[in-house]
Amino acid sequence: MTATSDGTPKVAIILGTRPEIIKCAPLIKACDRRGVDCLLIHTGQHYSEDLDQVFFDQLELPTPDYNLEVGSRSHGEQTGRMLEGIENLLEAHTPDIVLVQGDTNSVLAGALAGAKSNIDVGHVEAGLRSFDREMPEETNRVVTDHVSDYLFAPTEETKRYLERESVPGEIVVTGNTIVDSLYEYRDLAAEKSDVLNELNVAEDDFYLLTAHRAENVDTRDSFDRLLEGVSRFAAQTDREVVYPIHPRAQSRLDEFGLAVPEEIRTIEPLDFLDFLRLESAAALVFTDSGGVQEETCILGTPCVTLRYSTERPETAYVGANCLAGLDPDDIVEAGTMMLGKCADWDVPFGDGRAAERILDVLAVGAEPDAAEVPT
Ligand code: UD1
Ligand code: UDP
Repeated sequence: MTATSDGTPKVAIILGTRPEIIKCAPLIKACDRRGVDCLLIHTGQHYSEDLDQVFFDQLELPTPDYNLEVGSRSHGEQTGRMLEGIENLLEAHTPDIVLVQGDTNSVLAGALAGAKSNIDVGHVEAGLRSFDREMPEETNRVVTDHVSDYLFAPTEETKRYLERESVPGEIVVTGNTIVDSLYEYRDLAAEKSDVLNELNVAEDDFYLLTAHRAENVDTRDSFDRLLEGVSRFAAQTDREVVYPIHPRAQSRLDEFGLAVPEEIRTIEPLDFLDFLRLESAAALVFTDSGGVQEETCILGTPCVTLRYSTERPETAYVGANCLAGLDPDDIVEAGTMMLGKCADWDVPFGDGRAAERILDVLAVGAEPDAAEVPT
């Protein structure tokens, strides 16, 4: 990597969706602490207030320097428009390193634009594999890893996957930046969020559900079976389910004319503090989200994953997560097994200093005083 004339590498961070905003937040703040020149590019993949702006406000992030406002489109059109827009910005601003985080179309476009512009690319959360090529995210992960110069693997397991694929970039195990974010915000969530009162639910007396993956909600039968399994378990155990619903899932419910069972209460997507509070307080979380599998493991809430594969197997290895698939009987069985599970597992995603470690590897800016880094 070549440094700019004042010796400090210029960083471009590219993001576009809810989980990227949350997981890039520690990197953006670490750049700020170190006085690094950081260009923030938003692709506009997510644009609804409650998937986007609410996180910039709550996490006190700067307004992106550019928003490409690409919006919702087919995979090819969405990725193509991002690629063109990002390439133009990289050409105009000539950063020394492009950082992307995760596995969305925004990540793929950012990594390709950086690689095609001969700029070093760093992939944060590298090496995750579900080994299910039906998932659009799996293609994004594999391609991004193979064009990246720096692979910031969250765990030893993900490092091994990358070594097995002989990726050409430098692999460093850093932990996951979601730990940095949770350590910074979980106490604040407990202190500030009034969501339990607002929803009239009691600690340990409700379940939390999130489901938005294309392979689950885009098919009527899959979505129906998922809802049936979760609602049947709720009825059997006499607890309610709270489901902050992603707009993709809501639009599929509307399109399919699918009724949500009475045990499941759908609500609008929540901001980060309210969501963290619910995740911590729930007796059990049902999810198909990647980030939620990690967060429940870190927060000590047992999790049932409504998928047949996971790119976060570490959560299952430590006993925090169980893969149930979509069969209603299997969902009930997994719920029964995980409910009341003692959260004495080790957190496999690092110590909350992933962002600092990543900037250390890139030799970006001066290392801050330990007191400045949230723990
Ligand atoms: C995307 C990512 C997925 C990630 C998820 C995080 C890809 C291929 N998928 O899925 O990996 O888990 O973000 O939440 O990159 N919509 C809105 N408002 C928005 C954004 C989307 O209403 O701000 C609706 C639109 O109807 C859109 C649909 O959601 O068609 C899907 O949006 P899209 O960004 O294509 O994929 P996600 O399902 O959000
Ligand atoms: N999240 C949130 N409000 C919600 C649902 C999720 O703040 O109503 C947060 C959650 O804490 C996690 C992230 O969104 O950090 C997960 O995003 P999502 O499930 O959309 O994407 P994935 O992780 O599956 O890519």
